[in-house]
Amino acid sequence: MAEVTVGVDLGTSGVKVVALDAARRSVASATRSYPLLTPQPGWTEQRPGDWVAAALDALSEVAGLLREGGHTPAALGLSGQMHGAVFLDAGGEVLRPAPLWNDQRTGAQVRQIEARIPRPDLIARTGNRAVTGFQLPKVLWLRDEEPEVFARLAHVLLPKDYLGYVLTGELATEPSDASGVGALNLAWLDWDGDILGALDLSPTLFPGVRPSTARVGTLRADLAARTGLPASLPVVAGGGDNAAAGIALGLSAARPETGSLSLGTSGVLFAPLARPTPDPGGRVHLFAHADGGYHLLGVTLACAGALQWVHDRLFPEAELGTLLEEARAVPASEEGVLFLPFLAGERSPHMDPDLRGAWLGLSLAHRRGHLVRAVLEGTAFALADTYDVMREHVGLRSLLATGGGARSDLWLGLMADALGLDVYRTGSAAGAAEGAAVLAMPEGGLHARLGEAMGRPDLPEEPAPPVPSHAPRGAYTAAFHRLYGGPA
Ligand code: XUL
Repeated sequence: MAEVTVGVDLGTSGVKVVALDAARRSVASATRSYPLLTPQPGWTEQRPGDWVAAALDALSEVAGLLREGGHTPAALGLSGQMHGAVFLDAGGEVLRPAPLWNDQRTGAQVRQIEARIPRPDLIARTGNRAVTGFQLPKVLWLRDEEPEVFARLAHVLLPKDYLGYVLTGELATEPSDASGVGALNLAWLDWDGDILGALDLSPTLFPGVRPSTARVGTLRADLAARTGLPASLPVVAGGGDNAAAGIALGLSAARPETGSLSLGTSGVLFAPLARPTPDPGGRVHLFAHADGGYHLLGVTLACAGALQWVHDRLFPEAELGTLLEEARAVPASEEGVLFLPFLAGERSPHMDPDLRGAWLGLSLAHRRGHLVRAVLEGTAFALADTYDVMREHVGLRSLLATGGGARSDLWLGLMADALGLDVYRTGSAAGAAEGAAVLAMPEGGLHARLGEAMGRPDLPEEPAPPVPSHAPRGAYTAAFHRLYGGPA
């Protein structure tokens, strides 16, 4: 029987479970979706019970496929959406739906954190300023807004760590996801007691931090029986979804010249880093990587999500492919339209949840293709603004492009031109679930060390040919400052 490891990615739209052999080939996979709750404008929540039900279903399907294929699971690794807060009472019961990474309710609590801990100090300790989506302000929000729930609060877990708790009965986290809470000291890779003390929060609320490849516990007998997975299967801490996807792509500080560009709902630039050197302004995130190193992460909140919005809300009758073809066919000679992509506020580099989107420079001559092209160009400019902050700290030359948006040659070309980097479309579909399976390989005995399990980035021969934008980047920058202030 060939041994495999199982990886779980608890995403925002659904869960993906995959099983990989020692050569990182996928031998089985399954997905399940669950609802996103938006009970108030700016709020996004999910029910942790929905995650568990979906994950157990997908695990059962994969366990069945593995049995049919003659494969034996040797360990299971966890990964998932970062930053969410699962609030538990002393008996481990979920107290309320979990606010997610893109929830915007915590403006007042972000100000509270920065009033109690000076921003430069917070950045020096945690790698980040206080950010609306992070977990720490969510805990303060619960104390401010739902004090009767907070009074019963005994533990706060990140989404994938909650699944790990259900699977094993053990409370634990690991540095890549924990660094997205907002209270992890990046030098010690443990909770910063001074920060928690300044906010009158007990460190016992947060789980112990172990290495990403460490065992959290073993699969509970009742869940082994329910899913068909082996009893006592080791469950490995794993990584936040960006770090886990980086592991699947072979991204590591040992190869600082290669990073990734994810064109998903949000646009994410990932750059490996050997030491925890934050941007002094906290304009991009600094997180622990799951391989013991670090990484910078730039996040533009609306990327393929902006294109999806244009399609769903404005032109639902058109195929996405048609919209992209019309954008490609816009002649370069025509006056370019500008788009500011801040439909969900913005993270990097502005870190302002109140920014909003806009098209500018419209005339009677413009058509649908101009609007769509402006969205593609605007998201490329937004990521270029982020890269301008990152480039001072990292040595990137190439990016592996992932996510739905990476299927568009035009978008990849615009990104390559705006960023001034070689952008490669990846041949593999490796993502966070695959990375979680790789992180479980040392514990499962498939490889002695993570470095061997990970492999190296797989760059195709030719990068995407750069495509110059029609609108000059200077016009985008000037429009931003006209609307939101700053230098003329
Ligand atoms: C990263 C972030 C997102 C989520 C999405 O800071 O908020 O990439 O991890 O799952």
